[in-house]
Amino acid sequence: MQKYMVVGGNRLKGIVRASGSKNATLPILAACILNAGKSVIQEVPRLVDVSVMKDVLVHLGARVRWERNTIEVDSSNIQPVEVSEELMRRMRASNLVLGPLLGRFGRVKISYPGGCQIGSRPMNLHLKGLQLLGANIQEKYGYITAEADRLVGADIHLDLPSVGATENLMMAAVLADGVTTIRNVAKEPELVDLQNYLNSIGGKVKGAGTDTIKIEGVRLEDLKPAFHTVIPDRIEAGTYMVAAAITGGDVTVTNVIPEHMDPLLAKLREAGVNITVGDDYIRVQGNGRVKAVDIKTMPYPGFPTDMQPQMMALLSLAEGTSVITETIFENRFKHVGELRRMGADIKVEGQTAIIKGVDKLSGACVEASDLRAGAALVLAALAAENGTIVENVQHIDRGYEQLEMKFNALGAIIIRAHN
Ligand code: UD1
Repeated sequence: MQKYMVVGGNRLKGIVRASGSKNATLPILAACILNAGKSVIQEVPRLVDVSVMKDVLVHLGARVRWERNTIEVDSSNIQPVEVSEELMRRMRASNLVLGPLLGRFGRVKISYPGGCQIGSRPMNLHLKGLQLLGANIQEKYGYITAEADRLVGADIHLDLPSVGATENLMMAAVLADGVTTIRNVAKEPELVDLQNYLNSIGGKVKGAGTDTIKIEGVRLEDLKPAFHTVIPDRIEAGTYMVAAAITGGDVTVTNVIPEHMDPLLAKLREAGVNITVGDDYIRVQGNGRVKAVDIKTMPYPGFPTDMQPQMMALLSLAEGTSVITETIFENRFKHVGELRRMGADIKVEGQTAIIKGVDKLSGACVEASDLRAGAALVLAALAAENGTIVENVQHIDRGYEQLEMKFNALGAIIIRAHN
């Protein structure tokens, strides 16, 4: 177990570069299964979650070389062997191999991913969609088995715009017979990145970023090797932007696609933070105490649930009372108790948190319960008086590349220590 010791109170200043997107990398690596050949993926963040996906691919028989931020996957020798509970438990997103394995081999068996810290996260929409494509699905003894002689294009309407279900179905449909239309899909930028990768290997996918995605099935022989560069991580970038605001600092985040940041920037501006938007950078200047704002998490282009905990840390120090409503995950307020330990005044009623801004937070010993909750605690610690210990840093390592190095280069003091 590792922890961070954070000395609060320093205004962050300088330039920090966002890494490639974790949530774009994971489905793209899973999609590398499809072409039975080579893919070279650049701007891959060096994260624990990415190495779990690498391990899943290796377990399936892929040859994978990962040097710095480039991964080369050769999926020629992959076999649809069972993905064990051990690999599924290490990361829920391992379930993204379901669609591509089924598409390429007509069979797949993975351990059921189960719940997680932020909510139950079922897979019913993934499975319903695959059934419509002609798969026979069995859920037994904690495993999901899907089989089909050949997937056949279908019309699918998702009950809700699940990111993972959209990705799995898009990948499965690439090698289906005929045309698949998926409606009410997730519109997150990571879906557009996945579409771009799929088209670069010879898939015929269009519509990502809108409500409807259309996939014209192709044959395995039509697919080819490809190069792809992953889009910047909008959640990591957003976390550095909130860090600038919470410390009253002046930080320029580079390697961003500004339009992906719009939902967050709108709220930061409303809170009174100074924002300057360039072509591929955003400068955030803290402007005294922020004003209270209300936030409701929504599928993209709404406010991202993955930025909710970090914004709650910021609003803990706002002038006035903010209301945050979490509509995506049912159990995503685990950071509230820890922020309270640091002096925040937050009350939770169901899916709503009422945050009365306080003048200051003070250092305490707190525990990261999941990735973004951990990020929120680091942000609170950067602004707090005295030192804070953030336990269970392994959650943060799942999604932030070199977090303490990047923060320390901006003038923060964060030390990683072993328990
Ligand atoms: C992805 C992101 C995660 C982000 C989330 C929402 C990755 C690797 N992870 O997770 O960081 O927080 O999108 O933006 O990209 N649901 C069902 N049935 C299903 C699938 C989902 O009811 O079959 C529900 C979930 O319980 C949840 C909601 O849909 O309440 C959204 O989940 P989903 O969009 O699928 O999230 P993930 O793809 O797991």
